[in-house]
Amino acid sequence: MNHFHYRDGRLFVEDKALADIAAEVGTPFYCYASATLARHYDVFAAAIADNGLDAAICFAVKANASLAVIRTLAQRGCGADVVSEGELRLALRAGVPAERIVFSGVGKTGRELSFALVSGIRQINVESLPELESLNALAVRMGRRAPVAVRVNPDVDAHTHAKISTGAAEHKFGIAWDSALAVCRHADELPGIDFRGLAVHIGSQLTELAPFAQAFAKVRDLTLALREAGVPVSHLDLGGGLGVPYAPGEEPPSPAAYAAMVRETLGGLGCALMFEPGRMLVGNAGVLVAKVIYVKETGTKTFVIVDAAMNDLIRPSMYSAHHEVIPVAEPAPDAEIAPVDVVGPICETGDTFGRAMLLPPLAAGDLVAFGTAGAYGAVMSSSYNGRPLVPEVLVKGSQSCVTRRRPDYEDMLALETLPNWL
Ligand code: LLP
Repeated sequence: MNHFHYRDGRLFVEDKALADIAAEVGTPFYCYASATLARHYDVFAAAIADNGLDAAICFAVKANASLAVIRTLAQRGCGADVVSEGELRLALRAGVPAERIVFSGVGKTGRELSFALVSGIRQINVESLPELESLNALAVRMGRRAPVAVRVNPDVDAHTHAKISTGAAEHKFGIAWDSALAVCRHADELPGIDFRGLAVHIGSQLTELAPFAQAFAKVRDLTLALREAGVPVSHLDLGGGLGVPYAPGEEPPSPAAYAAMVRETLGGLGCALMFEPGRMLVGNAGVLVAKVIYVKETGTKTFVIVDAAMNDLIRPSMYSAHHEVIPVAEPAPDAEIAPVDVVGPICETGDTFGRAMLLPPLAAGDLVAFGTAGAYGAVMSSSYNGRPLVPEVLVKGSQSCVTRRRPDYEDMLALETLPNWL
């Protein structure tokens, strides 16, 4: 469900026409719908509540680091899952209370850990023995006890893209399954560590429940084994990973089915749960709007060249991801559909949004929206090829606000210095 729809032949986000925003801010730009953010959060929260689960929802900020997006979610009670000091500062600035923030990640630095401790966040998910020892030493020095969950690697296949699978033994994430019990027991004995429980995250854009269920069943077994060994387990962080539809007809498991599976696998343990959804909350709440620069015919192919590129939305070139191309002016019902390659201006062939995409005729100056671009879109952008970062716009009803402006060329040069020998 989202709030992007045609009205009188024009693509609207909520009650605002995308073409009107384009006229104000220029292209390309990211645009997010507050109503979709709110709806996705509410649907997930309701699924959890309906299944009688005691759980905190912490939005994975890595999916969308817009201050305005984080605040929109925070105002509904959502917390934050952060993976760097930068994200932690963003979440705090957005108004997320420290006690709703969890810090994940395989390589947190000493500086980041001490900032987390000083900030008084809810939980730090530890992913290795050396990290546990450093955090303990740091906490002891600071006269604190760090609230910790140990992230375990359950060694399951998430059945998703290789680059975003994280729960198999070969991956860098979490404590290896065989040593998990011993590491938790050790954590429970350290003076600077307040051992709370376990964390697990097996991958992103999962389109089946079975891998989650497999991982959560192992977490259940480990929880029982730890309790048996006299180590109390009160908190379980189940990560994120639930997939979203990118193309019409795709139907990943619903939040309701996911929550029911959690109840079946982990309900009854008496643990406080935490979820770290990213994509599911924001993916379908955003589009990337671009303008067609040229339509180029080569004799064998038609290339629609747009002013957005792989630096603005890297998912197609990085993960072969599909993002729908939606014309901003509604095509006539009898418009002729033909295969075209939609590409950006960057000097590499990988700068392709889609090959042989079946689209109505597009001409220079036409606007298109790339769908499901609210997650891992703007956050993964760069200024490769000297292209300014794309602005972000948040819409609520008929209001819109540029929540991150487009840098100008002076901004882009401002961090550069020439050495004195030049
Ligand atoms: N928790 C942890 C520990 C994670 O590593 C991630 C995502 C999440 C939660 C949120 O997962 P989600 O609910 O969004 O699936 N750039 C890639 C996705 C990378 C995901 C990294 N970790 C993409 O564009 O598909």
